[in-house]
Amino acid sequence: MKARIIGTGSYLPKKVLTNSDLEEMVDTSDEWIVSRTGMKDRRIAEGEHTSDMGIAAANAALKDAGIAAEDIDIILVATMTPDYIIPNTAALIQASVGATHAAAIDMQAACSGYLYGLAISKAFIEAGIYKKILLVATEKMSSLVDYNDRTTCIIFGDGAGAAVITNEGEGLLINDVCLGADGKQADLLTVPAGGSRQPSTETTTAQKLHYMQMNGKETFKHAVRRMEASSRECLEKSGLTEGDITWMIPHQANLRIIEAIGKRLKIADEKVFKTVHKYGNTSASSIAIALDELLKEKSVSSKDNILMTAFGAGLTWATAIVTRT
Ligand code: ACO
Repeated sequence: MKARIIGTGSYLPKKVLTNSDLEEMVDTSDEWIVSRTGMKDRRIAEGEHTSDMGIAAANAALKDAGIAAEDIDIILVATMTPDYIIPNTAALIQASVGATHAAAIDMQAACSGYLYGLAISKAFIEAGIYKKILLVATEKMSSLVDYNDRTTCIIFGDGAGAAVITNEGEGLLINDVCLGADGKQADLLTVPAGGSRQPSTETTTAQKLHYMQMNGKETFKHAVRRMEASSRECLEKSGLTEGDITWMIPHQANLRIIEAIGKRLKIADEKVFKTVHKYGNTSASSIAIALDELLKEKSVSSKDNILMTAFGAGLTWATAIVTRT
């Protein structure tokens, strides 16, 4: 029995960080940010944390699916901004939503985490290991961002998305998920301190090594090439062509990256779903939030195919093609 997504949910914190707010914080301008990234606003979590946002998205997805939390077999959480190093965020979500019979694990594949989670969910379900999975992507990117660094602080935002994946019911069949990585490019996007190699100290904090450091230009080039290649690989594996795609949801990293992928794949701009202007880059949550909004705001009919493609630190990348039943 093919795995399918039978419910989705998302959560965005209330506080909006606008381009004019950023103009007050660093040497930048609305014109620069819009022309280089397409971003206008992003959401910032204040007094709430990665697990809180994940819990809100998870409850919304369970409600949408009509599934009781006690019936969930495992919770998978995609995040690179966990509440703690220990315990994992999945366990915090498990306790709060009341998924008393569920196992709980975090997965770290940066912005590709949600699609990695879809691949793992599909494998668990189609191997007959689990029947009901709660996949949550939740990120408090503002905790990794230096709001004095104009090259990163304009890009990232906070938020969460979730999906319930099962072996039966109406929804989005997960046809294929193609995963990839290139660890040789690991230096392009890092948080140098706070892990076991360089635990946080007064010195690392003074050097701001607990914040994200990014080579934006190189990351940009890889993002376009990798998401294009991964999308082509997944289309071929599914026996589909670009013409069969009703909606594409690329990782919401930068409008220029999104437009470049659409152009390269010859997918018309009106079929490319975007949230980047209002939420910025929410890392693993980006596609999870966009899928929830797409399903709630647009008409997605039976047999429509949705291609989702992601790229992130690692480097990691992934593409999933799902079909409405
Ligand atoms: N405001 C004004 N000027 C700026 C800003 C800013 N916020 N940021 C950089 N600049 C300046 C630079 O200093 C540079 O000035 P210089 O020419 O005098 O040196 C100039 O603008 C051009 O900078 P570039 O870095 O070449 O700008 P670019 O067009 O590449 O845009 C950006 C930068 C937006 C970061 C882009 O490279 C990008 O989006 N890269 C991809 C990032 C990404 O997707 N990261 C996430 C990966 S997913 C994950 O796992 C988290």
